[in-house]
Amino acid sequence: KRFLLDESWASKNIKPREPESHKGTYGHVAVLAGSRGKTGAAILTCRGALRGGAGLVTLVCPKSLNHIYEIALTEAMTYPLEHETEINSLSYRAFDEIISFCQGKKAASIGPGLGLHQETFELVHRLVARLDIPMVIDADAISALAGELFHLRRAQAPRILTPHPGELARLLDISIEEIKKNRLEIARLAAKETESIIVLKGAATVVVSPDGREAVNYSGNPGLATGGTGDVLTGLITALLAQGYEPFIAACLGVYLHGLSGDILAKRKGPFGFVAEEVAEALPNAIKETI
Ligand code: APR
Ligand code: MG
Repeated sequence: KRFLLDESWASKNIKPREPESHKGTYGHVAVLAGSRGKTGAAILTCRGALRGGAGLVTLVCPKSLNHIYEIALTEAMTYPLEHETEINSLSYRAFDEIISFCQGKKAASIGPGLGLHQETFELVHRLVARLDIPMVIDADAISALAGELFHLRRAQAPRILTPHPGELARLLDISIEEIKKNRLEIARLAAKETESIIVLKGAATVVVSPDGREAVNYSGNPGLATGGTGDVLTGLITALLAQGYEPFIAACLGVYLHGLSGDILAKRKGPFGFVAEEVAEALPNAIKETI
């Protein structure tokens, strides 16, 4: 039931591309991330999705930030929301617009850099319950769900949560120390409580499904402990969902490839000092070593 995420597992589970395929085959990812002062988190999530092989990526953003993203992102598109708010982030007032934009998208990322405004939290609650495509929920979107787990239980499609220990502590209202003592046990509890897949990050990331499947990752290194690498993982897992991987497999393969990308950089550049953008950039190399 429990297995290791290593080269042998990953090479058996990664799918080569069909020659006859086109970008429609690999899905369109919607990224719901970023706010004023945290635009980098949204950009890195998009880069993770692009380098993870998504057919198309669109960043949904407040109109006020659109020009920043247009310059930073060459391959991703943006969808500036009509509904302007004062918080320079996403708000529940844009709920209908976001739902209709997400029609036909294959998967969504939500959370990195969204900020902690109540208006944003209310949007997260509604989208988590009602958006009918698979979704990776990270960072501030996890904080939005603390004490509000019922939104996850009502979800219309699979949900993958990617907390670091601090975010999981907040979500479950327990201490970080308790999590550090028993990562697997707590991840199991979280999967049960949220009826979602849990990716508990850190050295030896664990992936737990509410159906009982469990995996422990053996790729990665402490060079990955630098701002934004988690955002890249969020985009990557979303890209794998968009390409049709079953959600638990998408989470596992994403975690493994992300760690391997860090290992490749540690070898190529040095044990630390590489940055999140480079982790995204090295993903094709990790895919090449795995496939
Ligand atoms: N060994 C292996 N992997 C590691 C190690 C380690 N020692 N340390 C960190 N990592 C990996 C994690 O497994 C994870 O994939 O690096 C990534 C770090 O992700 P996050 O903890 O989410 O950090 P980050 O991306 O910098 O977050 C940016 O978003 O989640 C919020 O509060 C967070 O403000 C921060 C922002
Ligand atoms: Mg993070």
